[in-house]
Amino acid sequence: MILITGGAGYIGSHTVIELINAGYDIIVYDNFSNSSHEAIKRMEQIAGQPIKVVDADIKDKAKLRETFKNYSINAVIHFAGLKAVGESMQKPLKYYNNNISGSICLFEIMSEFGCKKIVFSSSATVYGEPRSLPISENFPLSATNPYGRSKLFIEDILRDIAISDNGWKILLLRYFNPVGAHTSALIGEDPNGIPNNLMPFISQVAVGKREYLSIFGDDYDTPDGTGVRDYIHVVDLAQGHLKALQKIDDIQGTVAVNLGTGKGYSVLDMVGAFEKASGKKISYKIVKRRLGDIAVCYANPSFAKEFLGWEAKLDLAKMCEDTWRWQSKNPKGYDTIHQA
Ligand code: NAD
Ligand code: UFG
Repeated sequence: MILITGGAGYIGSHTVIELINAGYDIIVYDNFSNSSHEAIKRMEQIAGQPIKVVDADIKDKAKLRETFKNYSINAVIHFAGLKAVGESMQKPLKYYNNNISGSICLFEIMSEFGCKKIVFSSSATVYGEPRSLPISENFPLSATNPYGRSKLFIEDILRDIAISDNGWKILLLRYFNPVGAHTSALIGEDPNGIPNNLMPFISQVAVGKREYLSIFGDDYDTPDGTGVRDYIHVVDLAQGHLKALQKIDDIQGTVAVNLGTGKGYSVLDMVGAFEKASGKKISYKIVKRRLGDIAVCYANPSFAKEFLGWEAKLDLAKMCEDTWRWQSKNPKGYDTIHQA
């Protein structure tokens, strides 16, 4: 049995589907602080089977202990965490408490039960401002905000755990920019309030929920002046987790792996691709740069291919088509009754 913390969230829900399709027995552990029970119903519909869920916080050690007692958990995929960079700057303690203290509780209970295999959701944010491109796993690590620091700190904690006990098998998956949705349009990204990230913002403009996109700066040193990122389809990302689980028995200690496509697209590229996929005009205004943003970020994905036998397959057109299908069929996210 695989325990999936944060399994009701955006990346977690897609990963649950890939794991069930591959025959894994899974259990979701989520406090629904940034997700909905409707997502679980939709996942059950896609999977064609009920999904076991523990509705609890990873900081609740008694509940974690009870879960490990009730189920024979062989490995954990740890998605649970708060992820809004801006909010983390306003409320650093909330982020450190939830992400770091929560992870420590989880690792303690795993130790208690002798469960020493974990796949952790890290982020390209741990590379800070990269010294060159593309970004490889051996680049120096740094953080520029409390969210990023929480990811880096949890990576460090896991590295220390592995040094202290060579029984641990730890994969640190560093995601680039996840976008897209399941092709069924039953599950997808459902941000609370005004989206922080580009793709959900663009799709809300397309569906008429927002008037225009604010593009944060057009004076970067990039081909069209707007920021460049490595967008990766969430289903590709989910399959990366499946490969990680299949590989985890072979490793010792910690291994960090970039999950990206290796391709960089600008904000204007994304606007153009989304207009094409949706047939809708995306109005935008150029505004000043967002504090803390870097100009360009994309992965060297070669280690993932060599080590996990995984590479991203879905292109930008598919990322935009699937985002649009999800957004247009569920204009209010999980609040909407799905119409086929
Ligand atoms: P998400 O918010 O959709 O999913 C996270 C899930 O964790 C939610 O369902 C939430 O309810 C749950 N959760 C949060 N705190 C919890 C707690 N204390 N106890 C139990 N459950 C809790 O986010 P996502 O986009 O699916 O991201 C998953 C992971 O990947 C996060 O750790 C995030 O930091 C990381 N990540 C995300 C991105 C991205 O751009 N989406 C990029 C890099 C890394
Ligand atoms: N952007 C806009 N307007 C918006 C939103 C974003 O112009 O309304 C631009 C940004 O300036 C950037 C690009 O679109 O150039 C992508 O921005 P996102 O906010 O979608 O993504 P980031 O690369 O800034 O950050 C994301 C996650 C972080 C994670 C990082 C690396 O939000 O948590 O990817 O994985 F750490």
